Amino acid sequence: MRKTWPIFIPDSILKNIINQSKSAEKVLRYANGSPRLILLVLCLCLAEPAAITLWEALRGTLGVNPLEILIREPGRWSLILLLLALAIAPLRHGLILCSTWSLKSFGKRMPDWNWLIRLRRPIGVASFCYAVVHVAVYVYFDLDLRLDDFLDDFQNKLYIKMGFISFIFLAPLAFTSTDGWMRRLKRNWKRLHSLIYPVSLLAIWHFLLLSKPGVKEPYIFSLVLFFLLAYRAVQAWKRGFVLQDRIDGTVPERVVEKLTKYPDDSPK
Ligand code: HEM
Repeated sequence: MRKTWPIFIPDSILKNIINQSKSAEKVLRYANGSPRLILLVLCLCLAEPAAITLWEALRGTLGVNPLEILIREPGRWSLILLLLALAIAPLRHGLILCSTWSLKSFGKRMPDWNWLIRLRRPIGVASFCYAVVHVAVYVYFDLDLRLDDFLDDFQNKLYIKMGFISFIFLAPLAFTSTDGWMRRLKRNWKRLHSLIYPVSLLAIWHFLLLSKPGVKEPYIFSLVLFFLLAYRAVQAWKRGFVLQDRIDGTVPERVVEKLTKYPDDSPK
């Protein structure tokens, strides 16, 4: 067994790795077989930041400027979840690559990680819900529902413009995220949902414009988005390359089948 590893690993450590990969395999099989349970756990996790902020608001422990926190926290979470939804495909890719080094066969195939791809839609919808709360708190508590003030802010503050445009584009993505819309829109569904890239760019821009000097978070988020977009660009380029080679007849059918059956951004 030691021969399968390029470096010497003591038997005790190897046994430990095998035992752990067995339990990981059990968990993964369970995750793939129980989508409802996974969804329930995910929903609880997604609701947690809202619940904590609400709890602190009710207890009056949000600090000296509670309104600022009430506006900023949902905006922050909306952006974090947007980036998380974009990170799922590269994460699955990375996990498959890691599994190729493991001794077990489970985890090496794309379908073993389908449950992970299923998390993407609820995460995207939660991102929109946080954006709705963010905008609602700003319009209701900060502007007192005054349309004039909103138009004034929209004209004079670039970050409000960017936030507004990203919100307007995010809305159709959330509303068409159901299976019914996916069937109705067919190929256009994917085209429509590629709006997620300009939406995340605008949201990051919104964040960068309003952040105070010395705050690192917007730059960290921008870097994360840069890597996620770079990953997408490389994947799209590779797919285009393989499909062109297929036209030339130089790529085996099984490679094309794998790429077209489980493209990274295919909805499941
Ligand atoms: C109509 C749309 C929007 C409006 C009017 C709006 C407005 C605002 C306002 C007033 C602030 C607080 C600025 C301050 O305290 O000085 C803010 C912060 C923020 N917004 Fe928006 N926003 C919008 C859409 C969005 C969207 C769609 C996202 C994310 C996807 C987002 C993410 C953020 C973030 C990350 C912050 C900063 C949070 C922090 O500092 O921790 N906003 N927004």
